Amino acid sequence: MEYVPNEPNAAKLINSLRNTGYTSYAAIEDIIDNSIDADAKTIRVFVEHKNNELRVIIADDGIGMDEEVLDQALRLGSLTDREEMSDLGKYGMGLCTASISMARRLEVLTREKGGQLYYGAQDLDDVVSKNKFIKIQREANRTDENLFEGKIGAHGTVVVLSKVDRLSDSNVAQFATKLTRDLGRIYRKFIEAGVKFYVNEKKVEMSDPLWLNDKKTQIYSDEEYDLPRSITGGRKESIRVKIALLPEMSDALMKELKINIPSQGFYILRNNREIADGLSLGVFIKHGDFNRLRIELSFSASLDNEMGVRFSKDGVDPNQGITDLLKQELGGQIASIRKIVKRTQQADSSSSVDHSDSEAVIAKKAKLLIVPEAEIEKRSPRKNTSEKRTRKDGDDSITRTPHKTQLSPKGMGARFETESRGREGVLYECAQEGKVIVIRWNSDHPFYDQIVFPNKSSKGIISGLDYLIFALASAELKVTNDDNVELLGNVKSIMSSNLRALLS
Ligand SMILES: Nc1ncnc2c1ncn2[C@@H]1O[C@H](COP(=O)(O)OP(=O)(O)O)[C@@H](O)[C@H]1O
Ligand SMILES: [Mg+2]
Repeated sequence: MEYVPNEPNAAKLINSLRNTGYTSYAAIEDIIDNSIDADAKTIRVFVEHKNNELRVIIADDGIGMDEEVLDQALRLGSLTDREEMSDLGKYGMGLCTASISMARRLEVLTREKGGQLYYGAQDLDDVVSKNKFIKIQREANRTDENLFEGKIGAHGTVVVLSKVDRLSDSNVAQFATKLTRDLGRIYRKFIEAGVKFYVNEKKVEMSDPLWLNDKKTQIYSDEEYDLPRSITGGRKESIRVKIALLPEMSDALMKELKINIPSQGFYILRNNREIADGLSLGVFIKHGDFNRLRIELSFSASLDNEMGVRFSKDGVDPNQGITDLLKQELGGQIASIRKIVKRTQQADSSSSVDHSDSEAVIAKKAKLLIVPEAEIEKRSPRKNTSEKRTRKDGDDSITRTPHKTQLSPKGMGARFETESRGREGVLYECAQEGKVIVIRWNSDHPFYDQIVFPNKSSKGIISGLDYLIFALASAELKVTNDDNVELLGNVKSIMSSNLRALLS
């Protein structure tokens, strides 16, 4: 049989290779993986926006490349040695495909210890105009040397992505901030082992989604599970699963730290590098009850096929055998964790402060009180549930504890609730809802936390405090108008702040 060459159409191919599913975050991380594989101890990322030109630079102090390796590295499908159990690379496509997914030009400067500095470049526009896979490779010149030494020093590799036309966020500063945060989590095991990362000269701090360094985190289990040989083609393989329940905390703090539905669930580590976060993997159904549940699943790259690792290394799609195993081994544990969470939630609401006595007295004495006129037309429809409403993800409302209000014969009433507005929030908010003055104590304010709540069993003290807040709130509602609303807001915030200072 006689074969003839069958070259791909370079211009078409390179343009479609821009769409292999990388976000710019995943692309940069894939390039960083090469630095880790090259034993770098320091990795510096620069996202530079100068003279209307956007450049992304990834510099490492790893082993660098000689001429032949650089020649391979700039090819689609490079032939280089890889170590399956530890290397983060895989297909020999990462450098080129990751680069062109976000930038039209890739330049590489690289030097082995004591070696020569080499320069290589691939420009998408040249490939398209010549319709051929072409590149530049030569010994570096003075300008290259200055750039190399400015970015990293003696040996290593500097990857320069220029003509960046597809950054995942048009706001460069915002992009750098998210990248910094993601790197701290994705490479946490390497940071822990001493590798240093910088983004625009700012050190990347390690961030552990399992909060393992927090004494209040409960490690629910930490086990190695052998996979049945029927799903691994006869190989002996295992995965490690660590289940953690983050400490209890206020709703406001959970919100601030984004401990929510998207962040709950599985964090997947491949050869110690995170490739996916916040997944349910079909093992449980995401729900607010699981916000504090974090599961780290680690595997080695020898399981890439079974785990369904994506080309861009930012996602997994495990096969049925693996999800079945996870359901069987973890299903019961996750159900028990839900019970623990529910129990603490119930304990929280049963230990809430009872304001019904104060409400009854206010209703009874309504005629003697100077209160604002009822604003029936402004009444907002509200559900009268006696249970805590739990926040849905993305819903900005605040967890409240509403209950039935007592009305006087004249129909005027007060209702006390608590809500979580953060430690820095005002002590209370008030509103008139129809004939009812609703007062919402801020359960995070130190005055509530240290004075009101601890006295919940002394009815006299609670009533006294409720009356004080009711008197302030009704006065506020009575005199508020468009002209003084801001002034009154200031008074309340200074009052809350002084009280906070006195109790801190
Ligand atoms: N920063 C780097 N330092 C040293 N060698 C590198 C670096 N980046 C790429 N290489 C070399 O280029 C090869 C190709 O990289 P890449 O295209 O990402 O594929 P892979 O990582 O799957 O091997 C690597 O195997 C490595 O030999
Ligand atoms: Mg790679």
